[in-house]
Amino acid sequence: MKRLAILLSGRGSNFDAIAENIAKGSLDASIGIVISNRPEARGLSLARERGIPALAISSKGLDREVYDHTLIQTLRQQEVDLICLAGYTRVLSAGFVREYANRILNIHPSLLPAFPGLDAQRQALDYGVKLSGCTVHFVDEYLDAGPVLLQAAVPVFDDDTVATLSTRILVEEHRIYSEAIRLVLQGDYRIEGRRVVLK
Ligand code: GRF
Repeated sequence: MKRLAILLSGRGSNFDAIAENIAKGSLDASIGIVISNRPEARGLSLARERGIPALAISSKGLDREVYDHTLIQTLRQQEVDLICLAGYTRVLSAGFVREYANRILNIHPSLLPAFPGLDAQRQALDYGVKLSGCTVHFVDEYLDAGPVLLQAAVPVFDDDTVATLSTRILVEEHRIYSEAIRLVLQGDYRIEGRRVVLK
């Protein structure tokens, strides 16, 4: 069975949705380890409640290369097939991306390339778009930038707040992340330049 590693920094709802899909048999994979760069992340306790190995490796005060080297050492012992960033707040170093070329996914709460970076839902509201959504993409060393695998759109309503829009987007995040993982693990795609072509 294919093994995932999840990197997160906080709440962990995307991790939990993936774990739930695995538990109920709709995603054929196992989660070898959950790692958080923030020891207080709720995602770590959610993982432990599910009996999934969960590790805090604090990134405080460490520069990217040093921290990512530690991450790589840990992940090498796990023999993972795919790394899923799920609310992981650090940009990965080029060295890390090279080690796991085309084997790292991220989910972002906007229709990229619109609104990369922090507070994507706030950015969408401030800009006044009528549609937003979420994107699962391969990760390169740039922020929210690699080839797009799947996207889902949601409407933005006039009376939306960051909270209501985020909730609407999150429902789609929880749906498409597992779908994207399934596609990648089954090898049902090829990457042509920036395009991910689904078979
Ligand atoms: C999600 O909105 C995700 O798209 C973004 O960070 C948030 C993480 O939420 N990258 P959670 O920790 O999975 O609940």
